[in-house]
Amino acid sequence: MNQESTAQAGEARRPAGKREVLGLVLPIFFLHRRRLALGLIALIAVDFLQLIIPHLLKIGVDGLANGTATTNHLLAIGGLILLIAIFVAIFRFAWRYLIIGFSRLLERSLRNRIFSHILTLDRSFFERRTTGDIMAHASNDLLAVQMACGMGLVAAVDALVMSCAAIGFMVHIHLRLTLLALLPMPLLALCTRLLSARLHQRFNVVQEQFSLLTEFVRTTLVSIRLVKAYTMEDLQERGFEQLGRDYVHSNIRVATIQGLLFPIAGLVGNMGMLLVLYFGGRLVIAGRISLGDFVAFVTYLYMLVWPMMAIGWVTNLAQRGMTSLGRIHELLSAAPRLQNRVPEKRLHAAVPGFRLRDLSFAYPATTHPALRHVSLDIGPGILGLTGRTGSGKSTLCKLLARLYPVPDGCLFFAGSDVNSLPLDAVRSRIGYVGQETVLFSDTVAVNIAMGRPDACRAEIEAAARQAAIHNEILQFPEGYETLIGERGVKLSGGQRQRLALARALLCRRPVLIIDDALSALDVETEYAVIVALRQGLRGKTVLIVSQRIKLLSETDEIVIMEQGTVVDRGGHAELFQRNALYRLMHEKQLHEPGARINSGTTGQAAPSSRQGIHA
Ligand SMILES: Nc1ncnc2c1ncn2[C@@H]1O[C@H](COP(=O)(O)OP(=O)(O)OP(=O)(O)O)[C@@H](O)[C@H]1O
Ligand SMILES: [Mg+2]
Repeated sequence: MNQESTAQAGEARRPAGKREVLGLVLPIFFLHRRRLALGLIALIAVDFLQLIIPHLLKIGVDGLANGTATTNHLLAIGGLILLIAIFVAIFRFAWRYLIIGFSRLLERSLRNRIFSHILTLDRSFFERRTTGDIMAHASNDLLAVQMACGMGLVAAVDALVMSCAAIGFMVHIHLRLTLLALLPMPLLALCTRLLSARLHQRFNVVQEQFSLLTEFVRTTLVSIRLVKAYTMEDLQERGFEQLGRDYVHSNIRVATIQGLLFPIAGLVGNMGMLLVLYFGGRLVIAGRISLGDFVAFVTYLYMLVWPMMAIGWVTNLAQRGMTSLGRIHELLSAAPRLQNRVPEKRLHAAVPGFRLRDLSFAYPATTHPALRHVSLDIGPGILGLTGRTGSGKSTLCKLLARLYPVPDGCLFFAGSDVNSLPLDAVRSRIGYVGQETVLFSDTVAVNIAMGRPDACRAEIEAAARQAAIHNEILQFPEGYETLIGERGVKLSGGQRQRLALARALLCRRPVLIIDDALSALDVETEYAVIVALRQGLRGKTVLIVSQRIKLLSETDEIVIMEQGTVVDRGGHAELFQRNALYRLMHEKQLHEPGARINSGTTGQAAPSSRQGIHA
């Protein structure tokens, strides 16, 4: 079974069970058990302290009713209530700090796990899912889990303790009155449950609208030059306006539900109060309970409104948290298609080369092969690779750089099947400069030293010299410390390409793959680069993809590809003689300024271009 089939089998997993999903967070709960325990103790302490207040009120009111209350007596009760309020404030701070802090720690731990897992995934994954989608899911789902484990936990414990204790005290005062007062409460829990489910749905829509809005701004800003060049400002503005309108509309729908929730809670609370006033009042008149008991009862009843609302809210939070945790679990279970099957195998060759045997390849989710039966040996020296656009050159480079999986027995590196070698061992020996330049919004020096952050300035400069960009960097306002702007917007296309080349050169890896990464250079600069490379990379394995005959003529050998296969291989002069496509390319490029191409054997003095064709 090859790598791909193993991984694909891994992807078609059954949905994870509750236990598996909870397994993601339970160890984090266990890790912070002390913090959680202290937080919960503080939370319960707040509840009990609050429950003492009605009791103190009862003593005060009874004293007033009996005429036994003195000013000192009342002051003492007031002082006690103040003291309790101070403790409540301290414990409230403590539980917030400890439990909400815990939920943030949990969020951080999950976020780190997601991020490092995403880093292990390969290109096939990122071709299936967009960046915006991954970002939105990761952030919204993390938020839902954090809410469930923070405020959800607090509300659940609070509701349980508070309602049990308040009901307990109420029963202690009068059982039948308690049952009467509680009659409307299940209605409140039901209403909250129904409304918060709606609220949740509408809130999801708000989140989606928000991701759409941010994604729209992001793509507009990224392609701002295109927007201006095609005078699309009006179109973009209208699109943005529409998205903004949808966003506000969905927010108003959320506000409608929120607006309903609190009045309903108030109404139900007051319905209970009505019953207590009538029946409780009669009990006081009949002398069955004291006036103080009555006041305490009313206060306990008010204290019950929040726990009843919390029951509905908590069940929703818990459901959302579980769903989100399930999605995070799914993301974390996505396996890279490229896997290290054999973790340890040593690479011996100092200058490794590649051997390709009957290698065919189709991109994931496509059926048309991008490479067909390619057999090729690539050893030390500079090998040029050319062919029409879409002929499979970049695909070949990406497979060599181990960016996609290959079947067993088709690609050998330093004499071993690549599938039997650790991925890192192969990748760390290959310098790869892709067709699209990737730069970071940082300084020139940091961009060059990306692959080797430990490199000193002299090494960075040497690499830049080899990539023929050193002199231009010195002209920048702050030399190597110049900020190049987002994705290198402050640089020309050719400068960006040479910066990427300098980055690969600095890594000094034995194999270098340059995929059409000099295309934006003028012929003279390109020539200067290739001459510098010839000297600097002597004895290494170098593969350069190019359409430029002038550059190709400076390589040791040239491979021509067509429709995913290798159709010819030879020296510049040889190919010029026998390959029609190569001759055509040669002729087309003759008229480019500075195109003095050597059509004889490599190393010979370049004759004039016209002479070259007929040589
Ligand atoms: N990520 C991808 N997913 C699906 N198909 C792809 C992908 N990348 C390339 N292809 C297809 O594979 C074929 C070979 O593409 P490749 O990029 O290797 O061509 P190329 O020779 O490098 O062309 P160019 O000279 O324009 O860079 C093309 O038909 C292309 O459409
Ligand atoms: Mg290409």
